[in-house]
Amino acid sequence: MTITQLQETIERHFASGPAAIGDSTAMTAFLALRSALESGEVRAASPDAASPSGWRVNAWVKQGILLGFRLGALEEFPAPGLSFVDKGTFPVRHFGSGDGVRVVPGGSAERSGAFVARGVVCMPPMYINAGAYVDEGTMVDSHALVGSCAQVGKRVHLSAAAQIGGVLEPVNASPVVIEDDVLVGGNCGVYEGAIVRKGAVLAAGTIVTRGTPVYDLVNGAILRATAEMPLIIPENAVVVPGSRAVTKGNGQQWGLSVYAPVIVKYRDEKTDLSTTLEELLR
Ligand SMILES: CC(C)(COP(=O)(O)OP(=O)(O)OC[C@H]1O[C@@H](n2cnc3c(N)ncnc32)[C@H](O)[C@@H]1OP(=O)(O)O)[C@@H](O)C(=O)NCCC(=O)NCCS
Repeated sequence: MTITQLQETIERHFASGPAAIGDSTAMTAFLALRSALESGEVRAASPDAASPSGWRVNAWVKQGILLGFRLGALEEFPAPGLSFVDKGTFPVRHFGSGDGVRVVPGGSAERSGAFVARGVVCMPPMYINAGAYVDEGTMVDSHALVGSCAQVGKRVHLSAAAQIGGVLEPVNASPVVIEDDVLVGGNCGVYEGAIVRKGAVLAAGTIVTRGTPVYDLVNGAILRATAEMPLIIPENAVVVPGSRAVTKGNGQQWGLSVYAPVIVKYRDEKTDLSTTLEELLR
């Protein structure tokens, strides 16, 4: 089956709703998509110089992943070879498929349908969800999440507790994109289709969503998403968590401020020093 045929089959079964359940061609198409995602042959978003954002969203991929949820039945996942030690009075609860609770395998897990390139390091606990693409030499540190369909480039450092949002829930159309050589600091969050361009640095604690204005002190500009474009953090920008005064209503009267990410500079030699990756860890 060619990729175009696969796309058509997925779109047809997605549109058919519950009728896809029990249809073996739907399952075959989903399994083909899952392995194409795992091999990196198919991506939820692909670099595209012709698109204004530089990325083309392949909406049918998300449909295919959702189709996989519709087709799947609850099953137990055995985990041979693991051993844990804890107080005997508080053993881990055990669920069976009849309990109706879905327990996704973890501490660390890379779900089927995710592409994880050679040389990627995954520190426990971390999670890479279906449809995600994580390229060579990237470090996914402890408590980091690569959400569904998120695209992460080469030599990216996703620091401890960095959260890269997915597209499944709440429902989002465009995957988050983290381009090559980006440093995402500890406790950062990048959500709702934001694109972080090559070499950018998000200082610890920076959070960006589609609705978050970003204040570029260097160029005197306020960056926002538009109807056509996601929020884009420019190449080599160094973004730190800041705040801005509320300028109207009760917020102003009460002297409140709200969170605001601020571009304080563009990458320089000092930033290179502060963000040097450890080759020995790779
Ligand atoms: C952003 C970072 C890489 C520093 O980059 P840098 O280029 O060396 O930045 P500088 O120290 O020159 O700081 C530039 C400006 O940003 C400010 N700044 C730097 N980091 C900041 C932060 N986290 N929050 C707020 N302001 C910050 C500095 O005070 C400075 O402002 P000033 O010129 O008015 O004094 C670093 O602060 C950082 O957050 N690193 C990530 C650490 C991390 O998450 N590690 C995870 C390990 S798992």
